[in-house]
Amino acid sequence: MAGALAGRTVLVTGAAGFLGTTLHPRLLAEGARVVSADNLSFARPDRAGGPEIRPVDIRDPKAVEALYAESRPDLVLHLAAVANPRTCKKDFPLAFDVNVGGTQHLLRYAPPGARFFFMSSAAVYGEPLYLPLDEGHPRRGKDPYTVTKIIGEDLCQNYVENYQRSVVVARNFNTFGAGQTGDYIVPQLIRQALTEGKIELWDPRTVRDLTYVDNTVDAIVRLAASDRTGIFNIGSGRGVTVGELAQTVSRKLGDVPIVDLKKPALGSPLLISNNQRLKELGWSERVGFAEGVDRTIAWMRGILAAA
Ligand SMILES: NC(=O)c1ccc[n+]([C@@H]2O[C@H](COP(=O)([O-])OP(=O)(O)OC[C@H]3O[C@@H](n4cnc5c(N)ncnc54)[C@H](O)[C@@H]3O)[C@@H](O)[C@H]2O)c1
Repeated sequence: MAGALAGRTVLVTGAAGFLGTTLHPRLLAEGARVVSADNLSFARPDRAGGPEIRPVDIRDPKAVEALYAESRPDLVLHLAAVANPRTCKKDFPLAFDVNVGGTQHLLRYAPPGARFFFMSSAAVYGEPLYLPLDEGHPRRGKDPYTVTKIIGEDLCQNYVENYQRSVVVARNFNTFGAGQTGDYIVPQLIRQALTEGKIELWDPRTVRDLTYVDNTVDAIVRLAASDRTGIFNIGSGRGVTVGELAQTVSRKLGDVPIVDLKKPALGSPLLISNNQRLKELGWSERVGFAEGVDRTIAWMRGILAAA
C-alpha cells in the first residue's frame, strides 16, 4: 500500500535536530523523497546514520532561495529554530533572526503551490485561563522564545490570507524521547539519576503534557499529509507533574533520591493540551508515557556508555 506521502518531495528544515532526525525514517517509510537541511548549530550529537544534511543557514535568504531552486519541494516541514527557551533569552537577536527571519525567508521563497508546515509551541498559550488548552485559547506567553513563535505564526497567517498559501501550524507541547539532549526536563532528570545518583527538581508541582517523540512524528506526518489548514495542538491531553515524572524515573532506576530545590520553574506552571482536532485526523498516542520513559532511559544509557 502506498504511503501517506508517496510521490511527494518533502523539504525538512532543522533536519539534524531531535524531531528532524526521528522524523526522517518515517518520511521515507511513507514514500516521500526527502531533502534535509540544517546549519548544524544545535544538531543532535549522535546523528551518525541519520539523514544526509544540506548545510543551509535559514538566516541567509539567498541560501534559502537556492535550496528551493535545487529541491523543488511540494511540502515544506519547517522545524529549524533556536528551540531552547534559555538560549533564546540569552541571545534574543539570534533567536529572532532564526525563528522569525528564517521563517519569513522560508515562507517568502517557497514554491507558491507547496504546502507549508510550521512548528510552533504550546508556550504561546502562557499561563492558562482554562484547561485543557484548545487552539482558541489566547496567546499569553511573553518570554523571548514564545515571542518568536507568536510572530512566526503570524507570518504564516499573512501568507495564508494575502498570498493564498496552504499552511498548517502545529503547537507542540512537550515532546521527549531518544535523541533529546540538553537541559530539557526528561533527559536532564534521567542523566542526573544515572550519573549522579540523585534527581534535583525546581518545582515538582509544574505540570507538563509529555508525549513520546514517535507520537509527535506521527502527528507531524498526519498534519502534513492532510489538506487541513489552521492551528493544531500536538500533545497527549494528559498532564504529568514534574514530581510524578521524577518518581517514575526514580522507581525505574532503583529508587534514586529526589531533591526539591524549591526554585520557580521556567514558563507556564500548567500546560495540558486539548488534542481533539488532532484526534479527528486519526491520531492517538501509540507509545504511552511509561513506555516512553523506558525507551529514553535505554537510549541515555547507550549515549553515556559511548561517551
Ligand atoms: N521538542 C519539543 O518538545 C518542542 C516543543 C515545542 C516546539 N518545538 C519546536 O519543534 C522544532 C524542532 O525542535 P527540536 O526539539 O527538534 O529542536 P532541536 O534544537 O533539536 O532542532 C532544531 C534544529 O534547527 C537547526 N537550526 C538552528 N538554527 C538554524 C539555522 N539558522 N539554519 C538552519 N538550521 C538551524 C539546529 O541545528 C537543530 O538541528 C523547533 O521549531 C522547536 O521550537 C519542539
